[in-house]
Amino acid sequence: DRAIKIAPSILAADFANFGAECEAIEAQGADWVHVDVMDGHFVPNITFGPATCAALRPHIKGVMDVHLMIAPVDPYIEAFAQAGADVITAHVEAGPHIHRTLQAISAAGAKAGVALNPGTPAHAVADLLDLTDLICLMTVNPGFGGQKFIDMGDKIRSLRAMIGDRPVHIEIDGGVDPDTAPLVARAGADVLVAGSAVFKGGSVDNPGPYGDNIRAI
Ligand code: DX5
Ligand code: ZN
Repeated sequence: DRAIKIAPSILAADFANFGAECEAIEAQGADWVHVDVMDGHFVPNITFGPATCAALRPHIKGVMDVHLMIAPVDPYIEAFAQAGADVITAHVEAGPHIHRTLQAISAAGAKAGVALNPGTPAHAVADLLDLTDLICLMTVNPGFGGQKFIDMGDKIRSLRAMIGDRPVHIEIDGGVDPDTAPLVARAGADVLVAGSAVFKGGSVDNPGPYGDNIRAI
């Protein structure tokens, strides 16, 4: 079986303590750190940008997985790559030229990810499979943590069939918890983003619950 990676989303962390939060979740077993960038335009919420990613970089030993919920994307790719993002994921809905965007992300030296909102069908990435390292399927409408999981089992399965033997991750983002994680893993996902389900009950001063929560997923 495929190894499942857990990518806690710092959207659910203490915003006044991001560096320590990243160190705490890695010490507690996180595989990747998921960084949700929102612009108040593509999604109805604002978080942070490349300067925050650059500040976080020294506090993350592993993969910094940057999820861009912004439009346009292309003018900011170089800044996020320079900030040390290992994976940069752009939404197919964020503009008319996702093919160009994925090429630009790879050219900037990062792994190229493409994200699909719940309402966007799997075949939207059919002509992108050789340009992408990761496909992020949203199982909530993006913008906020703590929303209810939307079942996308059929979409995951059809995507896994389309990918075939290409080395492409399927990442699931939104509402992942101990109940929903087995469903998406069984359907073929291998990177699970989880915000509220990882950070609940813990803090930088009491990080043990982060580890319990990660192991429960
Ligand atoms: C939603 C973000 C997600 C979110 C996940 O717009 O892209 O990464 O933080 O949070 P939970 O796990 O709480 O649904
Ligand atoms: Zn995300």
